[in-house]
Amino acid sequence: MEKVFISRRIPNRAIETLKSAGLEVKVWGSAIPPTQEELAEYTALADALICMLSDNIDRDFLLKNKHLKVITNYAVGFNNIDINAATELGIPVGNTPDVLTEATADHAFTLMLSVSRKILDSNRSIGEGKWKNWEPMGFLGQDLRGRTLGIVGMGRIGQEFARLCHQAFGMKILYFSNTAKPEVDKKFGAKKVDFDDLLAQSDVVSVHTSLNEGTRGIFDKKAFRQMKKSAIFINTARGEIHQETHLIDALSSGEIWGAGIDVSNPEPMSSESPLLTLPNVIVTPHIASATIDTRANMAFIAAQNVIKGLKNEKLLGFVNPIVYTKP
Ligand code: DGY
Repeated sequence: MEKVFISRRIPNRAIETLKSAGLEVKVWGSAIPPTQEELAEYTALADALICMLSDNIDRDFLLKNKHLKVITNYAVGFNNIDINAATELGIPVGNTPDVLTEATADHAFTLMLSVSRKILDSNRSIGEGKWKNWEPMGFLGQDLRGRTLGIVGMGRIGQEFARLCHQAFGMKILYFSNTAKPEVDKKFGAKKVDFDDLLAQSDVVSVHTSLNEGTRGIFDKKAFRQMKKSAIFINTARGEIHQETHLIDALSSGEIWGAGIDVSNPEPMSSESPLLTLPNVIVTPHIASATIDTRANMAFIAAQNVIKGLKNEKLLGFVNPIVYTKP
């Protein structure tokens, strides 16, 4: 019987799907993630691995586990996996695209609205006993109707976020992307611009790109300085795309107006981070895809990736399909 190791507890839909395909499933039971050694030790006994975005599947790990017939991330992003090494070793790698597009865009929308209307800070003030009167000048927020949204990375999630903002608030859409998206331009009157123009013109800047060598740290001191002082920064993609100390400085000095981030750099964020006390910031712990249905659907796709990979078939979310054709 072929064996699958899952490096954290995920919805039962995955386990049921794998078991009904006749596979033996071992799940890491603790809420504390396995160490790198434990991950390697348990993976050594398996034919397939379902791993998390927080697992470091680097070349060294892959060399120790080159017997694996398939690996799938329980995530759409796969920057934690050395794809070149996996491909060289002939290991197909899967991810879980599409099923989390809406939940993630919804979360970016939630952060944008909550920051623009100072929801967290105003709520905190009540608990701190500061609500004495109706405040004519208290907690004044930013309007979003007709404002300009700058999207960095116009893939599936960026497009869904553009749709929400355009339809809800008639926001004008600018985007920075490697490829032009004529269908998006047509649907939302969106315009592809360069990074500097996007920063200078946007009232909200939202990150939806993958983490790669071209996007690592692009939101730095210089980028925040180029943004409007009234701008809101949203990141639901990967924390390493912004430089966290530069973000803290930009928010504390009033270079930008506010931020809503679901991802941090590093992750997990320290409970001492100034981002948790700044009044104009909302941080959530990487939960953009965390709805019951979305996570169950991600579990199903991950399980299907394993089942297909073990049969040498095309994965549902396939990061390195070249693995099947390369000599
Ligand atoms: C992903 O899938 O990459 C998200 O960051 C978590 O769901």
